[in-house]
Amino acid sequence: MPTVVLGVTGCIGAYKACEVLRDLQRRDVDVHVVMTKHATEFVSAMTFEALSRHPVFLDQFALGAEGDIRHISLADAAQVLLVAPATANLLGKFARGIADDALTTLYLATKAKVVVAPAMNVNMFDHPAVRENLDILRARGVRIVEPGSGYLACGWLGRGRLAEPADIVSAAMDALGLTASGDLAGETVLVTAGPTVEDLDPVRFLSNRSTGRMGFALAETARDRGARVVLVAGPTSIEPPAGVDVVQVRSAEEMARAVGDRVGPATIVAMAAAVSDYRPAERAPSKLKKTPGEGTLVLTRTPDILATLGKSKGRRFVIGFAAETDRVLENARAKRAAKNADLLVANDVSRADSGFASEHNAAVLIDAEAETELPLMSKRALADRIWDRVLALRARPAPKALAKRAARPARRK
Ligand SMILES: Cc1cc2nc3c(=O)[nH]c(=O)nc-3n(C[C@H](O)[C@H](O)[C@H](O)COP(=O)(O)O)c2cc1C
Repeated sequence: MPTVVLGVTGCIGAYKACEVLRDLQRRDVDVHVVMTKHATEFVSAMTFEALSRHPVFLDQFALGAEGDIRHISLADAAQVLLVAPATANLLGKFARGIADDALTTLYLATKAKVVVAPAMNVNMFDHPAVRENLDILRARGVRIVEPGSGYLACGWLGRGRLAEPADIVSAAMDALGLTASGDLAGETVLVTAGPTVEDLDPVRFLSNRSTGRMGFALAETARDRGARVVLVAGPTSIEPPAGVDVVQVRSAEEMARAVGDRVGPATIVAMAAAVSDYRPAERAPSKLKKTPGEGTLVLTRTPDILATLGKSKGRRFVIGFAAETDRVLENARAKRAAKNADLLVANDVSRADSGFASEHNAAVLIDAEAETELPLMSKRALADRIWDRVLALRARPAPKALAKRAARPARRK
C-alpha cells in the first residue's frame, strides 16, 4: 500500500485536511499525519488519529511504538510528504532548512517527493518573503498546489485560498506515480445533479423527486475513468462521491451561476440535474397565511442552463437529460435539437422500476447518428454506457468535415 505522510499546519483550512485524508484512503493510500503544534489550535490530533488509525506525530521527542525515532521512521516510510494546508511559516522553514518541530525535521530527513498546498491571506501570499520561499521550494523540486482565488476566511478577496481537496489529492497521486490513466484522463467533466429547490416562503418550496443518484453515478464513473470532475449538486440526502470537486447549490439560479463560474475548463458537461423550470415570482419573507377561497401562485421562468450551454458550446461536448412521462422519444428528440445538445439521455420516469428514486435506470441515448436503447441497469452501469457513447462520438470526424470531403472532386493524378 502506498504511504503518504500528511503534514497539517496552523490555519483555518486545517479542517480540509480531513477530507484530503479520507479521499487518499479511498484510493487505497495509507496516510500518517504529522501536525504542527499550531495546527492543533484548529483541529484536534484526535480527529486525525481516528481518521488515519495511526498515532499523530506531534511531539518529536516522543518515541514511536517500537522505540523508533519517528521523524526518521516516518521519513523512511513515506513515498510522498504532502503538506496541506501549508502556512507561510512552514514554507519559510522548509525553504531555509529550519528543523524545530516534528514536521520540519521530518522534511529534512525524508527522500520522499514533497507536495505543499499553501493557504493564507492574500497579502501574506503576495509578500516577497513568501514568494521567494516558494521559488526556492519549486527550484528544489517541491510540487506546489497553487491556491485558489475568492473570499478568504479573513474576509479579504484574492489569492490564497487552499486548493480544492480533489486537486490536492490528484497532485499527491501524481507524485505517487498513480496518475489516473483511464479513457477520460485529461478531460474536465462538469456534472450537475439532484433537484433544485425554489423557495416560496421560509418554510415552503417547489421542488421535484430527483435524488441526485444519476448525476453522482456520472461523476463517480468519470472520476474512475481518469477525468477531473466538478459536480454541481442541488440538495440531496446521499453522499457525493469522493475525489470530485463538489459545489452545493439550492435554486435553479444558484445552479446556473455555479455552472457559469465553473464551466470554463470543462471539455464535457453532463446536465443530469432536474432543474425547476419555474420559481415563485416572489419569495415571501415570512410564512404565507391562509386566506379564504382559492389561492394563485404566480410563477416565473428560471434560467435555461442547458440551452445556454448549448448556444455557446464551441468544442465542448454537451449532454442533456430528458425525464419524461409520455411521448418520451418525441419530446427528447425535440429537446436535443432545441438545446443544441450533442447527446440526450431520455428516460421514462413514469416507470416504477427506474427513474428518480431508483438505483436503476433504463434510457435511450439520442445523438446525431443514432438512437441507442439501453435496458434497465444500475445507474453506474448506465453512466459508463453514456461515457462510452461520448467517447465513440468524439472519435468521429465532425459531420461537416465528412460532408466537405465527400463533396470535394477527386484529384487529378
Ligand atoms: C485564526 C487564524 C488563522 C490563521 N490562518 C493562517 C493561514 O491561513 N495561513 C498562514 O500562513 N497562517 C495563518 N495563521 C497564522 C499561523 O497560525 C501562524 O503563523 C503560526 O505560527 C503557524 O504555525 P505552523 O506553521 O507551525 O503551523 C492564522 C492564525 C490565526 C490565529
